[in-house]
Amino acid sequence: SAAEKGGYDYFMLKEIAEQPKAVADTLLGRIDLAGNLCLDEVRIPAPVLREVSKVVIVACGTASHAGMIAKYAIEHWTRIPCEMELASEFRYRDPILDQRTLVIAISQSGETMDTLMALRHAREQGAKVLAICNTNGSTIPRESDAVLYTHAGPEVAVASTKAFLTQLVACYLVALYLGQVRGTKWGDEILSVIRELSEIATQVEEVLETMEPVRELARTLADKNTVLFLGRHVGYPVALEGALKLKELAYMHAEGFAAGELKHGPIALIEQDVPVVVVVPSPRGRSVLHDKIVSNIQEIRARGARTIVIAERGDETVAPYADHLIEIPATPTLLQPLVATVPLQVFACELATARGNEVDQPRNLAKSVTVE
Ligand code: G6P
Repeated sequence: SAAEKGGYDYFMLKEIAEQPKAVADTLLGRIDLAGNLCLDEVRIPAPVLREVSKVVIVACGTASHAGMIAKYAIEHWTRIPCEMELASEFRYRDPILDQRTLVIAISQSGETMDTLMALRHAREQGAKVLAICNTNGSTIPRESDAVLYTHAGPEVAVASTKAFLTQLVACYLVALYLGQVRGTKWGDEILSVIRELSEIATQVEEVLETMEPVRELARTLADKNTVLFLGRHVGYPVALEGALKLKELAYMHAEGFAAGELKHGPIALIEQDVPVVVVVPSPRGRSVLHDKIVSNIQEIRARGARTIVIAERGDETVAPYADHLIEIPATPTLLQPLVATVPLQVFACELATARGNEVDQPRNLAKSVTVE
């Protein structure tokens, strides 16, 4: 009913709007006044976490994109090797796991069969399993050694939005916590990131307040056949998520690529007026990444692409190559997905609406896939 949707036309719109609160709720009580992480609820003792020699993340769909981003954060802040694997692939290739492996299973519903099977397999091999889950008491957390709940609240729309952002927050918390427990040389950076993470809800809110041009743009693209998405570093999983949302909701051909792979194939797809969404990393700090993506944008534009550029506010170097510029607030590089994904959710939702699709219940999809 309309009341359940809080005045919005679709649950998805309501859930997109709820993201600042969802993100704040996932952080709530998990960072103390001194800026330390308090994750005692993760009932894997610190000595065990100090001995972890490898992290393996398993997940499906949107949750796997959170997992890909988590890999960058975990390896950077903890120096523990980390891989992300689609749960449906993981179990069938005889993965190498032992008592020092920490497996992180990410699932909104806590009922996805592939993810459940992957974690059962991991536990049989002696690995410790930490679930990141949005649904209290569901199967995946019940069968795990520990759980960190995302506090997104119930997510009704099939296409995941607020659950994704809170999965990211939970992943950052786990990565920072592992760093804190193990005392890496990134101590100062960890403290400053924790501070910035505490402010992130405000920045997500700022993004939501500037989405009208994104909706207008989406409406002009309703008759396109294909949209491409490019990103580097953590912008790459964001590109994959943007493409997935468009497939799920707009039923359009959409693909995400690592921008560095352009020259190895995807550039052949660029022709006059093909919309290409590019997620640009912050120009500060990692300027090499930034420079490279700016030249990628120039390359595709020279071949006729219509460039839709998501970049940090005040990033003047990209503006001349952007047919459409979507500005997002400045964040540390690793946290950028929390603000960069939001315009892509809005974009897909609006395109779906413009194409007359059922936003909350896309054809052929289920909210929770409980079969293999
Ligand atoms: C389905 C949903 C997706 C979700 C995926 C994983 O495909 O439609 O939105 O990302 O399952 O679900 P989970 O509940 O494990 O996060």
